[in-house]
Amino acid sequence: MPVTAVVGAQWGDEGKGRIVDYLAQKVGAVVRYQGGDNAGHTVMNEYGRFQLHLLPSGIFNPNTHCIIGAGTVVNLAALIEEIDRVETAGVMTNNLWLDERAHVLLPDYRQLDALQEQARGNHAIGTTKRGIGPAYTYKVARAGLRMGDLKHPDWALQRLRVVRERLQAEFATFGAELPPLEEMVAQLTTMFAQIEKHVVDTVPILRKLLQAGAVVISEGQLGVMRDLDWGIYPYVTSSNPLASYAAIGAGFPASYITRVVGVAKCYTTAVGAGPFPAELTGKTGEQLRQIGREYGATTGRPRRTGWFDAVAARYAAWISGMTELALTKLDVLDQLPKIGICVGYKLPDGRTTEEMVDTYTLEQVEPIWEYWPGWLTDTSTITTCAALPENARNFLHRVEELVGVHLSIVSVGPERNQLILMETNT
Ligand code: GDP
Ligand code: IMO
Ligand code: MG
Repeated sequence: MPVTAVVGAQWGDEGKGRIVDYLAQKVGAVVRYQGGDNAGHTVMNEYGRFQLHLLPSGIFNPNTHCIIGAGTVVNLAALIEEIDRVETAGVMTNNLWLDERAHVLLPDYRQLDALQEQARGNHAIGTTKRGIGPAYTYKVARAGLRMGDLKHPDWALQRLRVVRERLQAEFATFGAELPPLEEMVAQLTTMFAQIEKHVVDTVPILRKLLQAGAVVISEGQLGVMRDLDWGIYPYVTSSNPLASYAAIGAGFPASYITRVVGVAKCYTTAVGAGPFPAELTGKTGEQLRQIGREYGATTGRPRRTGWFDAVAARYAAWISGMTELALTKLDVLDQLPKIGICVGYKLPDGRTTEEMVDTYTLEQVEPIWEYWPGWLTDTSTITTCAALPENARNFLHRVEELVGVHLSIVSVGPERNQLILMETNT
């Protein structure tokens, strides 16, 4: 049996965590394949409410292997804290595996991320300051430290000297200083000892599961518009949230991905800088922020809000090979009399387009709106498509038509069961 890739179809925070939590109830494994603790995936279930940063959203099911794959960057302190938090709530973590090839996100990368952001001044990316950019930079420069390196103290020390030499030079340009090598080694060794039992070669785990016919979910972080190659560069993260990257970051043949669930909100949000054509800066935008509680799960920053951007979602659907669409937060629109959809962009020269454009141009486009009547009815307890108000169904069908991908799931609240499976209820 194949891999189901769950990917963000917008600017991030689409509700991937709650969708994975729902889908993970019957699967063999959930694997995170990129990013680090910049993710904030909210999951609400019988154990409580959690903001997962590194742990895959399948962690609540003891029969599901949860893998943090080779393509991720791991902040050991953040991971230990998160394991502690879920264990305190009664969740077992002996189903958690970290690939030994994943890179260690050194504590000092966070400071470097903050220093770099400060230096960017007006052109700041608005990163989460979790050290993600530096961690991937060092990885690509072949100057990084991998999880498995810490199993061999001599080798780890040798590797850390390489990282440190480069890091020291970089810190010096900001007039900052690194802690002594011995201190770094002691800190990493102590933290690693606490999670070493989880650090393995995850290739055989996934291979055996897939060969035995189990379903595996790859859980993307962020969304297509923040993808390093296909998003709004440079206002992107330093890895690839696209579904295709799951095969690389998790370590299985690309041909195993047969189902790609793209997750999108019924409107759009973004944290951080960069173009966001469907943004609403006035009263309606504030209303969406308040009703939808749109504040960043990792940094607490107010999220920018706007109507659903069908151009971006259609682009995301193609580039990530979406086979189905999951729309979240329908209930947030319940109180609004009129609901907009961005169906195209007006270019600076007056022409219009329904295609994604480059970052420079995207900063200057104007949205072309289409408006749909609201339903002014509480949808949060509805469990079938047939029971949805007609105006809600019309809106959903229009979004489905514009994205061009079958709408399979509609979420009407943050809890596990506040969800409508469209296949069985239409
Ligand atoms: P992720 O990063 O894609 O997993 O999304 P986040 O967890 O950062 O943001 C999604 C937010 O919306 C969280 O606070 C969820 O609890 C919440 N949420 C998810 N689905 C729904 C929904 O259908 N309705 C409402 N009201 N909230 C939802
Ligand atoms: P989830 O997984 C929303 C944004 C930052 C910034 C850009 C680069 O919860 O969807 P980074 O720290 O990665 O170098 O920041 O990406 N960003 C997110 N926005 N949700 C996230 O994660 C994010 N992770 C990073 O705001 O614009
Ligand atoms: Mg999030």
